[in-house]
Amino acid sequence: MPILDPDINQYLTDLLPERDPVLYEMERLAEKREFPIVGPVVGSLCYQMAKATKAKRIFELGSGFGYSAYWMTLALPENGKIICTERSDENIKLAKNFFQQGKLLGKVEFHKGDALELIQQFEGQFDIILNDVDKQYYPRALELVVPRIRTGGLLITDNLLWHGRVVAPDNDPATQGILQYTKNVYASKELLTTIVPLRDGVGISLKL
Ligand SMILES: C[S@@+](CC[C@H](N)C(=O)[O-])C[C@H]1O[C@@H](n2cnc3c(N)ncnc32)[C@H](O)[C@@H]1O
Repeated sequence: MPILDPDINQYLTDLLPERDPVLYEMERLAEKREFPIVGPVVGSLCYQMAKATKAKRIFELGSGFGYSAYWMTLALPENGKIICTERSDENIKLAKNFFQQGKLLGKVEFHKGDALELIQQFEGQFDIILNDVDKQYYPRALELVVPRIRTGGLLITDNLLWHGRVVAPDNDPATQGILQYTKNVYASKELLTTIVPLRDGVGISLKL
């Protein structure tokens, strides 16, 4: 089930200002490989959220080849930093090339491994945490990330409408992970959440 009418999605995409050329290249690669990036409309929303929170320190769980991270990096100040985590060597290699092309390597760190383990190796809090790991890990990811977001910071989580499967649930661990995550995130007294029904549904949770 497409969440957004494809014509509306195209309309919203066409409204965006011209993007950094590296983003277009990443979009072409995603299309060629059928790799699930957040896409330009949600990417632009992430950029907007990073600007709105004046983010200086961002953590991303599940970075793929760096598309969502690239958008947020464009919003960082000179001394800003984004920590990307990804378990695939090949994706990290591609991401590094894209960031180098965009002259953004100075603002990014790539760490290979399980994002849920890696976040526990970093100290302190973040202005934004973006969560896009395998969906069965979402409930555990939520427990780990909530204490790591500063007050007034944001948790951004992709795929919360899961191609409509949230309203026609199956027993797949991914669907169940998303449903459990959503129940927990809305029940949290530390977070104020809205699912924005763009692309596959993106959760924006404000840390209270
Ligand atoms: C949907 S893609 C990420 C796309 C990226 N956020 C974007 O929009 O450009 C999810 C990525 O997370 C990685 N991944 C999934 N679970 C992970 C985990 N537990 N630890 C590290 N990487 C993980 C996968 O290898 C995949 O590249």
